[in-house]
Parts: sequence; structure tokens; C-alpha cells
Amino acid sequence: MKSIGIDLGTSNTRIFIKGKGVRLNEPSCVAVSDTEDVVTAVGLDAARMVGKTPDSVSVLRPVKSGVIAQFDVAVAMMEAFLKKTGVRLSGRHPRVIASVPYSVNDVEKRAVEEVILDAGAKSVALIETALVAAVGAGIRVTRPHGSIVVDIGGGTTEAAVMSLGGIVVARSLRVGGDTFDEAICDYVRRKYNVQISETTAEYCKRCIGTVVRPEESLVRRTQESLPGSPVSPRGNATEMEVRGRDVITGLPVGQRLTAADMVEATAEPMGKITDSIRSLLEETPPELSADLYGDGILLTGGGALMGGICQQISQATHLKTTIAKNPMECSVQGIGRLLAFQGDIDRIIKFRSK
Ligand SMILES: Nc1ncnc2c1ncn2[C@@H]1O[C@H](COP(=O)(O)OP(=O)(O)OP(=O)(O)O)[C@@H](O)[C@H]1O
Ligand SMILES: [Mg+2]
Repeated sequence: MKSIGIDLGTSNTRIFIKGKGVRLNEPSCVAVSDTEDVVTAVGLDAARMVGKTPDSVSVLRPVKSGVIAQFDVAVAMMEAFLKKTGVRLSGRHPRVIASVPYSVNDVEKRAVEEVILDAGAKSVALIETALVAAVGAGIRVTRPHGSIVVDIGGGTTEAAVMSLGGIVVARSLRVGGDTFDEAICDYVRRKYNVQISETTAEYCKRCIGTVVRPEESLVRRTQESLPGSPVSPRGNATEMEVRGRDVITGLPVGQRLTAADMVEATAEPMGKITDSIRSLLEETPPELSADLYGDGILLTGGGALMGGICQQISQATHLKTTIAKNPMECSVQGIGRLLAFQGDIDRIIKFRSK
């Protein structure tokens, strides 16, 4: 039987096939034609349509803050993704391990299981994102030693202290990289009277986004370029022009934004993340605190790529903070390692069938 790992994220879905590695990494997006009620595109193809669709097509994101928001759309997306990986849905149905946020309740867990079963899996088991992210980042979680991982995704931030293969204390926050995008949109509208799209806000965040003032930042960030982007960034700049709609005149306009704008715009969600990590540390048993003091905090998830985030978390906690290698793939790689486990996996996690 095929064994598959799925990280069904708010922003991106990743699929790991045992023996083959990560076979899919695409935005958790589906384009649906409203007139015919059919899926017209999934993943990257659907994400490219955001904000540019005619009335008859909607681009939907069926996962919100790591939980299923639109069940049927999520099933259609999962079916299409599994098909793209070449996994046969008939015959030898796959067995799946999927990651979920720590805070999800039983109903939300059930919804994730049902989506994966309805998409063609034979059985499914769920595991906490922070735990698999730690495994994927190379932390040996089974030791009698405390480790702390903070996974900042698109819609959630999961902070957990682990030891002996389990989570000792954790915090799950419905704040992530997408919250930064929303905060940037709100800020630009309030301060400059310009409405920009979330796609533009995200691009701006990736180019000049930072949570610490440039003069305080020790890290110089390089610019990425995105084909067909609505904005025109400049190499290694701390400012760029974005385009949007003037909320007063209704006309298209350009607006120059600086790294200082980014700091101001994202201060509130960033504060929520640092507060949550601090409260987690306060609750950590002293024996484990001693281990954390030595090893520091490890960041995973795409939100960890936000400029200055390491510095900000380190300042707030007085702990050394580092970003994992390839942070966005840590969770799915961690599930991959679990799939490779030679022992009796059913003793560690519980599989459920239809
Ligand atoms: N270079 C970058 N700078 C800042 N943010 C980034 C960068 N690259 C990606 N991101 C952000 O990372 C987020 C996506 O991360 P990730 O793929 O880990 O989330 P996810 O697993 O889909 O979501 P979740 O775990 O919350 O369900 C998005 O908000 C994206 O804008
Ligand atoms: Mg994630």
C-alpha cells in the first residue's frame, strides 16, 4: 500500500510520497465556475487568477487557519492534487498521515480526515504540525530534552515545547503571514487612502517587508522577482512603488511604500506572535526551560522568511533564534520521516478508515 504525507496548509498544500519525496507543493487554491459549478483550475493555476476573474469564476481558498472552511471545495482540491502526484485513486488506495494545528477541535479534525478519505485515501492519521515541523527541521524530538519550535504559516502560528516525542506545552494562534498581508492592506488604505490587493501586499511583504526598522536590521534582504507582478521593485531596496485604487477618486494610482511602513503595518500581528511565545515560555517547566536556554528557538513555516523576524523574537524572548533550512517544507518533510519509520507506526499514531 502507498504511504503519503499531506500538509494541508492555509496557503500551500504539500504532498510527500514515501520513497519519492515531496511530489507536490502548490497554493491551496481552487477556481470554480459559478455557472456550471465545476472546478476550472487548482493550485498554482488557480492562484494566478486571484483578483482577475470574471463574474462567473471564483477563486476559493478552502482552508482557513489550518481548518477546513469549504468541505466540497477542499475534497475537489485534494482529489486534483493527489491525481497530479500520480497516485492512483482506484485499486491500492493510499494510507495518509496529515498534519493539523495543535488547537483544532474534534469536529475540525474529523473534517480534515473526511476530506482526505473522500479524496480517495484508504485510511488517515493526524499529527500536530509543530511536532512534524520539528522532526523535519532535524530536531531529535524523542530525546528527554526540551526543544521549542515556532511554525509561522499563512494562517496560523504554532509554538510548541517538545520532549520525549510529544508536545509538553503549546500555543496555537490564528495569526500568520496572511495576517501580515491583511494588515499591510489596511495600513495603506488608512494612511495613504489607497486600496491595494492582498496579492500586491504579499509581494510587497516579500520584497521590502520587515518587522524591525531597517537601521536596526543586521540583515540585508535581497529582492525576489515575480513574473507578471503588479508592482515594480528595485534591487535590494527598502522602498518600492505599489499600485492600487485611490479610495477617494476611485482612480488607479501608484504609492511609494517604505520598509518603515512595513514595520508599522505589521506591528500588531507581530506583537501577538511574540506575546504568545513569551506566554508559552512562562508555562514551560523549569527543567525544560534550561534546555531551551541552551538551544534557543527554531522557526519554521513561510512566515519565518519575513524580514527581521528572528531578531524580533530573539529580542522579545532573550533566546537565540534561528530559521530552519527550507522552512516552508519542514512539516511535510517531518511527515516523510515518519513514513520512513521502520517500527510499528500504528503504535505511535492512530489511523482511521471510512
Ligand atoms: N520571503 C517571504 N517573506 C515573507 N513571508 C513569506 C515569504 N515567503 C512566503 N511567505 C509567507 O509564508 C506564508 C505561507 O507559509 P506556509 O506555506 O508555511 O503556510 P501554510 O502551511 O500554508 O499555512 P498554515 O500552516 O498556517 O496552515 C504566506 O503568508 C507567505 O506570504
Ligand atoms: Mg503550515
